[in-house]
Amino acid sequence: MSKKIDWKDSVVYQIYPRSFSDSNSDGIGDIKGIISKLSYLENLGINVIWLSPVYSSPNDDNGYDISDYYNINTDFGTMADMDELLSESKKHGIRILMDLVVNHTSDEHEWFKQAKSDKNNKYHDYYIWSKDEQKPNNWRSFFQGSVWELNKSTNENYLHLFSKKQPDLNWENREMRNEIYTMMKWWLDKGVGGFRLDVFNVYAKPDLYSSAPGIADSNGFVFNPGHYANNDGIHEIMQEMNEEVFSNYDCLTVGEAVEINPTEAINYVQSDKGALNMVFHFEIVSLEDKSTKNMKKVLKNWIPVMNKGGWNSNYLSNHDNPRQVSVFGNDDKYLKESATLLATMNFTLPGTPYIYQGEEIGMTNMLFNSFSQFNDIETINGIKSLRNQGKDDDFILNYFREKSRDNSRTPIQWDNSLNAGFTDGKPWLDVNPNYTEINTENQIHDDKSIFTYYQELISLRKQFSVLTHGDSKIILEKEEDLIAYKRTYKNETMYVLLNRSDNETVIKSHANLWNNNLDDSYILDNLSFLSGNNSLDGIVVKGDEILLKPWQSIIVIEK
Ligand code: GLC
Ligand code: CA
Repeated sequence: MSKKIDWKDSVVYQIYPRSFSDSNSDGIGDIKGIISKLSYLENLGINVIWLSPVYSSPNDDNGYDISDYYNINTDFGTMADMDELLSESKKHGIRILMDLVVNHTSDEHEWFKQAKSDKNNKYHDYYIWSKDEQKPNNWRSFFQGSVWELNKSTNENYLHLFSKKQPDLNWENREMRNEIYTMMKWWLDKGVGGFRLDVFNVYAKPDLYSSAPGIADSNGFVFNPGHYANNDGIHEIMQEMNEEVFSNYDCLTVGEAVEINPTEAINYVQSDKGALNMVFHFEIVSLEDKSTKNMKKVLKNWIPVMNKGGWNSNYLSNHDNPRQVSVFGNDDKYLKESATLLATMNFTLPGTPYIYQGEEIGMTNMLFNSFSQFNDIETINGIKSLRNQGKDDDFILNYFREKSRDNSRTPIQWDNSLNAGFTDGKPWLDVNPNYTEINTENQIHDDKSIFTYYQELISLRKQFSVLTHGDSKIILEKEEDLIAYKRTYKNETMYVLLNRSDNETVIKSHANLWNNNLDDSYILDNLSFLSGNNSLDGIVVKGDEILLKPWQSIIVIEK
C-alpha cells in the first residue's frame, strides 16, 4: 500500500523533552513547555517533531526504559497534556513522531514483574532467558558489564543489551508482538504522525550460545554490536509490523539502525519494498577519526544507494551524540561559520534533514567541571569502568567532556535570563554557561544569525525539488578540506561546496563546475549571509579559480 503523506518533504526537529522547556518550575522540561514553544518551531519552519520518549518510566535511561506504554511520565505531565500537544501541533502544521522503544522494556514494566516471578508465568516468554544459572556468553552490554543478569527467583539470567533495568523483549513470542502492534495502533488512532524506532535492527537475536568474535575488555566481556544487529528474522518482523500497522495509517517511520551499511540499509527502506521510510545510520557520527577525508569516504559509499531509491536521515548530533558544531565544526573560532556549514550539509545531502534541539542556534558541548555534573547512565557506568581499568580522574573527566551524551542534553538556551529561560527552578542538568551569548532570543530577530540561516535552508527545500529528489555525485574529491557534490533533477542542477577547515581552499578550473554566468542562479553562501552582504560578493573568483574562506559553504542552483 502506498504511503499517503509526502514524508520526503519533511524537516524533522528532535525534542528531548527533559531539556526543552519547563512549565512548572520543577527543573524538568515537560509537555506543556513544548506546547508553549510550538510557535517558535513553526516560525523555524519544521513540520515534524520526533519526541524522545514521554511514556511512564523509572528514568534509568531517561525514558528509554518504559514501564507503561499507555501512560505519560509524571515528570512530563499527563495524558491530557499529550492530547493537547497532539491537537495544538496540528494547528501549527506539525506532526508528532513518538519514540518507539520495543527492543526492551523497563524491568518495572508489569510484563517483566510477572515474567521474573515464575518460569510458568505467561509473560516469562516475553523476555529472553538463559537455560540455567550459567551465562550463555561473554557479551558486553552497550552500557558496560555483561548483557546477562541473574534473576534469583527462577535461577536464570535475562538478556539486556542496554542497562540491567532494560530487559530485552523476545520477538519470537507471538502474543508479545501482537500486544506491541495493538499499542502502536492505539497511538496512531490517537493522532500521532508516526514513529522513530529505537534500535530496531537488534530485535531479532542471534544464537545466544555462540560467542561473539571481538576483543574482550579487562573483565573478559566482548563488545560487538555487529553481532546483535541485522540477524535472520529481522526482515520478517519488520514486514509484519508494516503490514499490521504502518501500511494502514498515514504515518512516517524512521528506524535507528546500529551497525548498518548501505547494502543492508536499502532492504529496510527501498521505495515500495522496505518496511520503513528511512533509517539513521551511525557511519559518520561514530568515525574514530572524523577527518573530512573519512566523512567523504562514508558519503561515497552511501550515495549510490541513495540514487537507487534508498533514503537517509541526515544528522550529525542527537541526544546520544555530542553537539555537532563542537565535534564536526570549530565551536571556538568559527562558531557561526561552521554551524551554518554543517547545517548546509545536512540540508543538501540526499535524505531528510534532522535538527536536534538547540542546533538551530549553534549550541555547543558543555565544559563539565566535575563528575557530579553528569547524569547519563552510559557516562556514569563508563566512569566506573575506566576507574576499574586504573585510569586517573583527569583522563576520565577529559574523556567524558568530549564523549558524554550529557553534552547534548543540557537545557535549551532560550534567552539570557536566569537558567537561560529554561526553568524558574533548579535545572535537572546544569545549563551551559555560554547561554548569555548563545540563545534563541538573540537570534530570532537577527537576519544574520544561525537561526535565520536554518529558516533559509528550510525554505530552500520548498523552492527547489533538486534538494529532495536529485541524484547525487561527489565532485572535486581530491581537494583535501572540501566536501563537494552535485545533484541533478529535471531542469535543476545544484552544486554544494563545503570548505570544512580553518584554512582557505583554492579550487582551480571552476569553469568545469557551473556556467560562468551566475546571474540567473540561486546562490546561498553562508559567509555572505552571516555578514548581510549580497550573496554573489561572497564568492571570490580569480580568473579560473574560486577561493573559499575557512568554513565557507556555497550552494549554487542553476535553473
Ligand atoms: C537508543 C537511544 C538511546 C538509548 C538506547 C536504549 O540508542 O537513542 O538514547 O539509550 O537506544 O534504548
Ligand atoms: Ca516541569
